[in-house]
Amino acid sequence: MMETVEIKDKKFSLYISESEIKEEVKKMAAAISSDLEGKRPIFLVILNGSFIFAADLLREISIPCEMKFMRVASYEGTNSTGNVTEVLGLDESIEERTVVIVEDIIDSGTTMNELLKILERRSPAEIRIASLLVKPKNLKVKLEIDYRCFDIENDFIVGYGLDYNQEGRNLKEIYKITD
Ligand code: IMP
Ligand code: MG
Repeated sequence: MMETVEIKDKKFSLYISESEIKEEVKKMAAAISSDLEGKRPIFLVILNGSFIFAADLLREISIPCEMKFMRVASYEGTNSTGNVTEVLGLDESIEERTVVIVEDIIDSGTTMNELLKILERRSPAEIRIASLLVKPKNLKVKLEIDYRCFDIENDFIVGYGLDYNQEGRNLKEIYKITD
């Protein structure tokens, strides 16, 4: 395990270890499995950032479930509301189903808020949010986040699926930018 890493022009230091991540991901999977027993939830994995988190989380889920994948891109408009479009869309129905959105990080919350609007139009029975990380001090919209592994400060992080300019996703741990 490295204490510091350099990615492109930035330096990062170890923030959350592999074992801490594993432990919290297992706890989340246990909570979801218990809460959603009998509901045959659809896990909706939001690419690209959450692919590693989702792979670990979903292998710890002990109830029957389905997995679907979606990729969204956000464009900041002239106002700060942001605009999310589906790059890799969801073609299957989620009508009357319990959906669990699997996301890497909720920062301002804009992406998640827009995603909820898109999904609600498709009449699911229920939508829950499972995010590996949340930056609560940066949240700009009201969101009910059902499951989260870590609340973090407003620092930029990489690793465990999260990137800095497309690099760093393969790091086993989570690293925080150093000033
Ligand atoms: P939000 O719409 O502001 O909540 O931002 C969500 C998206 O921004 C996430 O899905 C990430 O792709 C990206 N993001 C936010 N914070 C970080 C970070 O610290 N490291 C890497 N990506 C981040
Ligand atoms: Mg993301």
